Amino acid sequence: MVSTKTEIAGFEFDNCLMNAAGVACMTIEELEEVKQSSAGTFVTKTATLEARQGNPEPRYHDVPLGSINSMGLPNHGLDYYLNYLLELQDKEPDRTFFLSLVGMSPEETHTILKKVQESDFRGLTELNLSCPNVPGKPQIAYDFETTDKILSEVFAYFTKPLGIKLPPYFDIVHFDQAAAIFNQYPLKFVNCVNSVGNGLYIEDESVVIRPKNGFGGIGGEYIKPTALANVHAFYQRLKPEIQIIGTGGVLTGRDAFEHILCGASMVEIGTTLHKEGVAAFERITNELKEIMAEKGYESLEDFRGKLKYID
Ligand code: SIN
Repeated sequence: MVSTKTEIAGFEFDNCLMNAAGVACMTIEELEEVKQSSAGTFVTKTATLEARQGNPEPRYHDVPLGSINSMGLPNHGLDYYLNYLLELQDKEPDRTFFLSLVGMSPEETHTILKKVQESDFRGLTELNLSCPNVPGKPQIAYDFETTDKILSEVFAYFTKPLGIKLPPYFDIVHFDQAAAIFNQYPLKFVNCVNSVGNGLYIEDESVVIRPKNGFGGIGGEYIKPTALANVHAFYQRLKPEIQIIGTGGVLTGRDAFEHILCGASMVEIGTTLHKEGVAAFERITNELKEIMAEKGYESLEDFRGKLKYID
């Protein structure tokens, strides 16, 4: 029997596939649709303390090899997602879900995380340190000093299972430096990667999204090699208690297989989910299971992290 079951921070999931924050997760209706699909769980849209409109439209554009977006963290505010999750965890006590969040300042991040800490929320929290799209706000995790400071402050009061969503890194020294910081903290997971920030896509003579004169985060097929490199680089460097969620460039079961081979315990789908809808979860799960069956693998543990090198 081939199984794609997985586990993060001791919580079990029937399937290792889920949505990537930002896609199919803005409203309760969208979250319910993901929940009722073949996905193992869902993550909410990144919540800020107050609701936000986000950037002006058009702000998301599907392109042949992926997508470009500059959403600017539109969301319904922390209470909307947290209240829904608090009800859900009583209705479905056997399932675990992810709450994504970040403040518009370090102070706001602490206010939000303290609210979560004081609530009865029993799920997993993902702190988004990597949104590339809010004008004037840099991607936090590219600033190692600030990241270290935020994490040290957070873990002074936050005792629930917490992970972080990372931007892609492109230099071996940055993998080393980032991992050295993360290894100091009781993080449960890192999620690699958010979109590749600030690309430009042009049709005829024009950009395709309005914010920031067309600059936006790139997702989809373009970013798989970068996503795999980040998953594997952190798998090699992080202490085993910090698991990896792989995100980026998952169009097929083969792509999910490669993320797991690089060390991912869970695989998220963004651009493909936006293009194809929740049916993508069943298709990609079946494709992944077929590959596992052909290779004689029964569980993800049989091949997770076992990427082969050339001597
Ligand atoms: C956005 O809302 O701009 C996308 C979220 C993200 O990339 O973290």
